[in-house]
Amino acid sequence: ALVSMRQLLDHAAEFGYGLPAFNVNNLEQMRAIMEAADKVDAPVIVQASAGARKYAGAPFLRHLILAAVEEFPHIPVVMHQDHGTSPDICQRSIQLGFSSVMMDGSLGEDGKTPTDYEYNARVTRTVVNFAHACGVSVEGEIGCLGSLETGMAGEEDGVGAEGVLDHSQLLTDPEEAAQFVKDTGVDALAIAIGTSHGAYKFSRPPTGDILAIERIKEIHARLPNTHLVMHGSSSVPQEWLAIINEFGGAIPETYGVPVEEIVEGIKYGVRKVNIDTDLRLASTGAIRRFLAQNPSEFDPRKFLKVSTDAMRDIVIARYEAFGAAGQA
Ligand code: G3H
Ligand code: 13P
Ligand code: NA
Ligand code: ZN
Repeated sequence: ALVSMRQLLDHAAEFGYGLPAFNVNNLEQMRAIMEAADKVDAPVIVQASAGARKYAGAPFLRHLILAAVEEFPHIPVVMHQDHGTSPDICQRSIQLGFSSVMMDGSLGEDGKTPTDYEYNARVTRTVVNFAHACGVSVEGEIGCLGSLETGMAGEEDGVGAEGVLDHSQLLTDPEEAAQFVKDTGVDALAIAIGTSHGAYKFSRPPTGDILAIERIKEIHARLPNTHLVMHGSSSVPQEWLAIINEFGGAIPETYGVPVEEIVEGIKYGVRKVNIDTDLRLASTGAIRRFLAQNPSEFDPRKFLKVSTDAMRDIVIARYEAFGAAGQA
C-alpha cells in the first residue's frame, strides 16, 4: 500500500532503525528494490528526482511506483519527490499522487545557489501547509550538501569548480536546525555533515574532519524528536569500482560514506538515508562484466537481469545493516 513518509519514519524512530531511500528512474531499479524488500520484509521509500522525471517522464515514474504497490500489496511504499526546488514543483507532485515531497529550499530554484534562512523557511512552510492539508509528508533541508575537503557541491565526473561553499554552510548548525523545525513544521529534516551527491565524495577513506558524524549527535541532542535525513549516503563500494575498471571503465580513486558510519548516525536520529549512486555503480559494473564475458549476447533482458540482481543485493545489504529488515 502507498503510505506517507511520516508513518514509516515514526515507526523507524519507535523501533530504532533507519530506512534507505532509493532513487528510481527505470523498471530495473524499481524491481530490484521491491524484490529486496519482499525478500527481507522491509518497508520501501522510493524517490524521484528532477533528473528522473526528465529521463522517464513523471507519468511513467508514477505508474512504475503504482505497479510496485500493485504487485507487492503487503509492502508499505512511500512515493517521495526528491529535491523539489520550488513550492510549485512540490504541488505538482502532490497532484500526481506522491505521498511525500522534499522542499529543498537550501538552494534556489536553479538547484545550485545557496539561499538565506528566511527564504528557506518561507518556501518550506508554504509546502508544509498545503502538503499536510492533503496528508502528504514534507522533508526540508537546512545547510548545504558539499565536500569539506573542497567546498564543492558534488560533481558527476569528479572535476569541477572549487570553493563554491564555505565551511559554515557545509555543516548544519544545531540551533538553526531547531529554529527551522519550529518555523516550518517539517516531518523530516535533511542535514549537511560533509556528504555530497555522486561517486566523488571523498579523496580518501573519510575521517571525522571530512565526515562529521559528531554533528549528527549535536543536532539530535537539540532535536531528539525530529527524523533526520542523510543525503549523499552512497558507500561507493570499492569492489564495484574494481569490476567497472576491470571491464573497460575508468573511474578514478574515490570513497563514499562507510555503512558503519551511517549505522552510527541511525543511533542518533537518522531515519532516512538517501542512496542512488551505489545502485548506479552496481548496475554499470554488472552490465560491463556481463557484456565483456558474453560478447555474442544481444538480448537486453540478459544484461538488465544481472543489473537488477546486482542492485537487489545492495538494497538487501542496506536494509539489513540499517535494521529495516523484518519491519514491513
Ligand atoms: O539528488 C541526487 C540524486 O542522486 C538524483 O540524481 O538528479 O541525476 O537523478 P539525478
Ligand atoms: P548518493 O549520490 O550518495 O547516492 O546520494 C543520493 C541522494 O542524496 C539523493 O537525494
Ligand atoms: Na529527498
Ligand atoms: Zn539528495
